[in-house]
Amino acid sequence: MKRYNICVIKGDGIGPEIADEAIKVLDSVSDKFGFELNYEYFLMGGAAIDVFGVPLPDETLEAALKSDAVLFGAIGGEKWDNLPRNLRPESGLLKIRKSLEAYANLRPALIFDELVNASTLKPEILQDVDLLVVRELTGGLYFGEPRVKEQNRAYNTMVYTTDEIRRIAKIAFEAAMKRNKKVCMVDKANVLETSQLWREVTTEVAKDYPEVSLEFMYVDNAAMQLVRNPAQFDVILTENLFGDILSDEASMICGSIGLLPSASMGGKVGIYEPIHGSAPDIAGQGIANPIAMILSAAMMLRYALNENKAAEAIEKAVKAVLKDGYRTKDIAKFGAVEICTTSEIGSIISDYVKKI
Ligand code: IPM
Ligand code: MG
Repeated sequence: MKRYNICVIKGDGIGPEIADEAIKVLDSVSDKFGFELNYEYFLMGGAAIDVFGVPLPDETLEAALKSDAVLFGAIGGEKWDNLPRNLRPESGLLKIRKSLEAYANLRPALIFDELVNASTLKPEILQDVDLLVVRELTGGLYFGEPRVKEQNRAYNTMVYTTDEIRRIAKIAFEAAMKRNKKVCMVDKANVLETSQLWREVTTEVAKDYPEVSLEFMYVDNAAMQLVRNPAQFDVILTENLFGDILSDEASMICGSIGLLPSASMGGKVGIYEPIHGSAPDIAGQGIANPIAMILSAAMMLRYALNENKAAEAIEKAVKAVLKDGYRTKDIAKFGAVEICTTSEIGSIISDYVKKI
């Protein structure tokens, strides 16, 4: 029997609750498709600061590097907000992304038919929305040196090399080949030199993918187009900070940030995590929506473990559960037949997985 080692980092806030549900669903799917998942649990973020005094302990990073995939919940919370930047929970996440060379962040945004009313946009605008944000994750302003905070002045550096751009552009074109064969590269080339370089390199990469159409869009326009006509997009390729912002915007098109998964990959080991944060305000109440986390587990099966059938089974189960009217509180207003707790909906999804 195939056996995979999963490094589980539950994190802070709602992280532990939603991670438990993802594991429940993974156990059900691995049973069904005949493979074994061996979980090992490690700390990162606030939980690690409390125990080790640092947001990414060495043992967590070592375990992640040795694993087949990292399944990660969420980190952060008010308790740790006033620590110096390098000791904040977020620094742990950035460091693990960089250390695993997880430079490609895939953030799909698609509409569940049953939830079109949950979006703040009009249902007619949502017809045919199915887009994928391919966000560069280990470069740009997040990591550029020098970075300085002085008393009366502060600065950051946006830096990209052609190699960094080329490898993420390839990921975007490969993804487009399996989708609707359109890439929209989002930048600020009317102002930034880095964006000019992105355009040059992406144009070069596009030559290897003659079937894929490439367009360029300024980021301010893209932010506007995403709410004006989101169905025009297939793959959005962009740098780190723009991708951070646009993927949150794209998530709301779908009705709840609690629904969207993500994969951070490309390097040694991938990290699979929901795009939402740790939501400390609702932690521990059993009302968090675990679907983004469960769908992230499906992405892990597909991209890290090549268990495509198992990934599909989870995605189908989630759709069927929503279709049958099971809802967590965040989306209860939209067609709920039964309002479920975090753990109830996790159990229902894992039962559906068995039946699919
Ligand atoms: C995300 C988050 C992170 C980011 C934070 C927590 C550092 O917003 O994964 O989108 O900015 O990348
Ligand atoms: Mg973000």
